[in-house]
Amino acid sequence: MSAMRIGCTINGRREEIHDVWEGESLLFVLRERLGLRGAKNACEQGECGSCTVYLDGLPVCACLVAAGQAEGRTVVTVEGLSDEVSLHPVQQAFLEAGAVQCGFCTPGLIVATHDLLSHAVRPSDAEIRERLAGNLCRCTGYEKILVAVRRAADALAGAGVPIDT
Ligand code: FES
Ligand code: FES
Repeated sequence: MSAMRIGCTINGRREEIHDVWEGESLLFVLRERLGLRGAKNACEQGECGSCTVYLDGLPVCACLVAAGQAEGRTVVTVEGLSDEVSLHPVQQAFLEAGAVQCGFCTPGLIVATHDLLSHAVRPSDAEIRERLAGNLCRCTGYEKILVAVRRAADALAGAGVPIDT
């Protein structure tokens, strides 16, 4: 099995990753090679959404993406949503709403919520539930997550913050 070199942009930085083995996932590269531990490794089967990141602006389960598929592409993780100084309003809303318990689902939910709110300014509860259905949480019962999403929608709408990746 031959090792590869991959070049891609991660959270705005050009990265070169060497000795990537065939079958290595993007999630492994992010967490184990680059120390970006935001995206979580929970099921490693595309079932829970804990590893959600943006790949060329679309949310994907990083555990299902082969690292080689990131060649020449742009990845944004939950770490890349905040600037150096402050949390992104979606991150802040999750904190303030108490939507974080064990936190395993949180990074994926934040990326998924960020994506949702980039398409819908004030989504209905039904729309929120539908769009976040791929992100599983074992702790919160989802009510606090709904509160967080509504709160983030209000903050973004009120501040006129444009969302893009
Ligand atoms: S760890 Fe990727 S979907 Fe669960
Ligand atoms: S807070 Fe524990 S899985 Fe969601």
